[in-house]
Amino acid sequence: MAPYIATTSAPVNIACIKYWGKRDTKLILPTNSSLSVTLDQDHLRSTTTSRADSAFEKDRLWLNGVEEDIKPGGRMSTCIAEMKRLRKELVEDVDASAPALSTFAVHIASYNNFPTAAGLASSASGFAALTASLAALYALPCPPTALSLIARQGSGSACRSLYGGFVAWNAGTLPSGLDSHAVQVAPETHWPDIHALICVVSDTKKGTSSTSGMQRTVETSSLLQHRIKNVVPQRMKDISAAILARDFDRFAEITMADSNQFHAVALDTSPPIFYMNDVSRAIIAVVEEYNRVALLPENGGKRKAAYTYDAGPNAVIYAPAANMKEIISMIVRYFPQQDAFKDPFGLFGAAGAGTG
Ligand code: DP6
Repeated sequence: MAPYIATTSAPVNIACIKYWGKRDTKLILPTNSSLSVTLDQDHLRSTTTSRADSAFEKDRLWLNGVEEDIKPGGRMSTCIAEMKRLRKELVEDVDASAPALSTFAVHIASYNNFPTAAGLASSASGFAALTASLAALYALPCPPTALSLIARQGSGSACRSLYGGFVAWNAGTLPSGLDSHAVQVAPETHWPDIHALICVVSDTKKGTSSTSGMQRTVETSSLLQHRIKNVVPQRMKDISAAILARDFDRFAEITMADSNQFHAVALDTSPPIFYMNDVSRAIIAVVEEYNRVALLPENGGKRKAAYTYDAGPNAVIYAPAANMKEIISMIVRYFPQQDAFKDPFGLFGAAGAGTG
């Protein structure tokens, strides 16, 4: 009998409109919609192999070669159980000759091709790759949108990594969460000219995890309520329009404003959360100055780069490919002492976003 095995990869995504806050912590339903760019497959990705076998005694998981516990009722076990349920409903109940893989235990091995210590969101690519790999193993006739409903229950941002290119996660309104899934705003081929530069400011693990940080924000920040009601809905429309029009100036303006509001909301949390450090803020100053000069009428009057920061100090700089060389030499010039810029992980370079 051929072994039941499948391997799939999913890339990291970096949000331009940030997800921060859950209205349902078990189903992972967000307080606001979000939008991200999925990076190129060749650069930062998780690759996951799943195998089902009637001889396996229990589900097991290895992350980067180290076995991890699958906590009963936890996110990992929820995702595996949901995928087994889909296998039964969509395949085995429909075709009596299909092997009963939903009753077999699975062994799952996942690798990141980037160091987890680099502080990049590995949960997004990790849960997306897990879901995609089980979908391939179980031969599920499901579009990425349906799989994103399950990846979302592993880690919210993971639902966006099931698509390449520019991806929105619609918050939805149903208590069941069935309308809270990812949709592709534009494929990677629509705007391959946008590249992402990842500046590793610190490779130590962050102090406050996204999960606990955002929960504290929901409980204590009044600024978050303003953001949810009055800011994000319009920004989602505006940035989608900028992407469709390939308007980098507007894309950059919105991306930077949203990163800054996310960090303001973190600061408005009690006790406050500081994700950026002095180097992060210095990078903001450099990019702002670069854009100030670019915005002068004699220089074309348009922004040339956009920074964004997640729940940590590392910067992601989006820019059209033609500006990247200039941006890299500027960063190296202003931050010459930083080991991160000697590229210890091979991360320092333009990761073609939306091209893979
Ligand atoms: C700042 O998806 O890691 O990167 O759903 O609790 O697993 P959980 O959180 P997670 O949060 C990501 C937060 C963010 C913004 C974003 O990616 O939209």
